[in-house]
Amino acid sequence: MVHNEAVEIQSLFQQNVVPSYGRFDVVLSHGSGSQVWDVAGKRYLDFGGGIAVCALGHAPPAITEAMIEQSRKLVHVSNFYYHAPQGRLAQALVQLIGPGKCFFSNSGVEANEGLFKLARKFGHDEGRYEIIATTNSFHGRTLAALAATGQEKVKKGFEPAVPGFRHVPYNDLAAMRAAISPATVAILIEGIQGEGGVTPATPEYLLGLRQLCDEKKLLLLIDSVQCGHFRTGRFQSYQRTLENVPGGEKFLPDGISMAKSLGGGFPMGAFWVRAPYADLLSAGSHGTTFGGSPLACTVALKVLSVIKQEKLADNAREIGAHLKSNLENLARKYPGVIKNVRGLGMMIGIELAPNIPAFAGEGKTPAVRFTNLLHAAGMLAIPAGTQIIRLLPALNLSRNEADEGLRIIGFVVEKLAA
Ligand SMILES: Cc1ncc(COP(=O)(O)O)c(C=O)c1O
Repeated sequence: MVHNEAVEIQSLFQQNVVPSYGRFDVVLSHGSGSQVWDVAGKRYLDFGGGIAVCALGHAPPAITEAMIEQSRKLVHVSNFYYHAPQGRLAQALVQLIGPGKCFFSNSGVEANEGLFKLARKFGHDEGRYEIIATTNSFHGRTLAALAATGQEKVKKGFEPAVPGFRHVPYNDLAAMRAAISPATVAILIEGIQGEGGVTPATPEYLLGLRQLCDEKKLLLLIDSVQCGHFRTGRFQSYQRTLENVPGGEKFLPDGISMAKSLGGGFPMGAFWVRAPYADLLSAGSHGTTFGGSPLACTVALKVLSVIKQEKLADNAREIGAHLKSNLENLARKYPGVIKNVRGLGMMIGIELAPNIPAFAGEGKTPAVRFTNLLHAAGMLAIPAGTQIIRLLPALNLSRNEADEGLRIIGFVVEKLAA
């Protein structure tokens, strides 16, 4: 009998792993930079980046070295004690964002939970607790984050929802203003909606929300889990969106959640809170066993130093623009396949045209079918919603790799247009 490792591994999952993910028929073995191989030796160019996580690609040597060195010294200590890596990482993030303080978690959703608790604490004595979020948003999978998320499909079956969240359309300042009630305490948006289909906030929206929050004494919270960490060419996506916009340089939200690229693949999250509110969560009011461990923070500091040393923010901006303009050309050539291309830097959404003939009939969504075709052609990418393909590659993607990815996408699009 032929030994088939892929089948064997898939059957381990089928028998032993909760089937909560719609997994693709891809069984991965190892990676290097923006390349990854399956157990049969097939090579894929990775434009999904583990959903915006692998900022430096797979198995970056600098991170491996930092992990080995730190793990020989101190992997974990309780948050009852001080240690240098957490203090230094908090300082680095504060320097990149603005005056405030940081809390460390283990995931994006926990970072958001921390912001929700911050908002509740802020409004508690006035009986204010409600957070207004946006339709099509995604904030994670815990019960409160599900309630914050503006997509019905992720909430179904888990009712009743945690109270205190309402939704209004994204990029609609008038709708946000109209939704504010005496119970409202905060506004929550993504800097660029990711799962919802790669929709960046407009500069007017960001500046308008800041003004609205000041006027109504609300906290402005930005979920930067996917769009942050230099993906757009600036540390925070709002910094990129507000470049050269009058008043933009002074813009600061009151809270920012981070994760994904923060640890470059090492699971960690964080939130930053602006100085006036930085001590609201006092001793005993919030915590987590693993958050901000010496190992996690050492890795995150190394990710930051490699990004700086190798000028990867500039690379994300330049290669991202190169990808986007070439994809726009492809969309102009094949409007029956690509409806629209949007995004900033290394966060790009390709919206598929409705009614692509090859995708007619029952079955998986066009986004999943397109992704399957990319896999077959040797490339990983991430579907969003039913119609959108997300490109979230490593920030150190080279020009050659970008061009190879464009060739693969072009090949799939041409085939669908034929
Ligand atoms: C914008 C946004 N917020 C929060 C989350 C949740 O992060 P995590 O999966 O690390 O809990 C995600 C995950 O995709 C996200 O994209």
